[in-house]
Amino acid sequence: MKNLIRLQDLSVKEINDILDIAQNIINGRNKSKLDNKIVANLFFEPSTRTHYSFNTAEHKLNCKVLNFAPESSSMTKGETFYDTIKVFESFGVDALVIRAREDRWYKQLLGKINVPIINAGDGKMDHPTQTLLDLLTIRQEFKKFKGLKVLIVGDIAHSRVAHSNYECMKKLGIEVYFAAPKNLQDKQYKYVDFDKYLPKVDVVNMLRIQNERLEKGLKVESTYNKNYGLNKSRVAKMKKNAIIIHPAPFNRNVEIDDDIVECSKSRIFKQIKNGVFVRMAVLLRSLK
Ligand code: NCD
Repeated sequence: MKNLIRLQDLSVKEINDILDIAQNIINGRNKSKLDNKIVANLFFEPSTRTHYSFNTAEHKLNCKVLNFAPESSSMTKGETFYDTIKVFESFGVDALVIRAREDRWYKQLLGKINVPIINAGDGKMDHPTQTLLDLLTIRQEFKKFKGLKVLIVGDIAHSRVAHSNYECMKKLGIEVYFAAPKNLQDKQYKYVDFDKYLPKVDVVNMLRIQNERLEKGLKVESTYNKNYGLNKSRVAKMKKNAIIIHPAPFNRNVEIDDDIVECSKSRIFKQIKNGVFVRMAVLLRSLK
């Protein structure tokens, strides 16, 4: 039984193996299916990309899919997170894809649920399949990881993407830098000047301000777009082959300007496309 909880638990080889499977699916060299496996997507937090790209991945693998909606479930009668998961285990489903708001929600499940668990987003902490699709997008572009420079910009404190990217990219030999205003910094990291580092890096990962996670009273400055937004003049200063990634959803004209979202350096929609294949690879790893 193979869970996917944190990329930190995987070796460099295991990470590359998942990316290889995804790439082989894209190239038509891996046609594996999971006929008749039942997968339950349990999203306790809103999601478009992650939820429905898992859904698409499951359909492409010929799985049967259950999509759980907490707002029309017995959770409205007070049923707990744990009891809800236990119900799906009791149904006999073959895998559980879970996203929840609470940091480290999986701790209460490990050792108690006997079905592979795939983490589709863990509070502010981890987002393994997002990092895998970021890595696949980067590898397609540069054919390597070692020595690349990635700058992660924005709401570092509340972003599971930032935390997940940092741990895994470091392990693969990528140099990771952060830029953020003081009130959005996670103090365990060091920060660089956005405009000074942008021209030096191969990849810039622009993050959304996680408004739904901001502590009460925390205000984002009205100067955010001026100081940290990616606009035409900043993009013009990037290296010739450098690329822009963003986990999305993006706030147009906040962290990224309208005319940058689909510019020639942007790989945002390629990331979304890769997300389906990475999630197919993750499901195959857990269920084959
Ligand atoms: C991210 C998430 O939910 O953590 N989005 C995603 O999964 N594509 C980032 C975000 O919501 O800002």
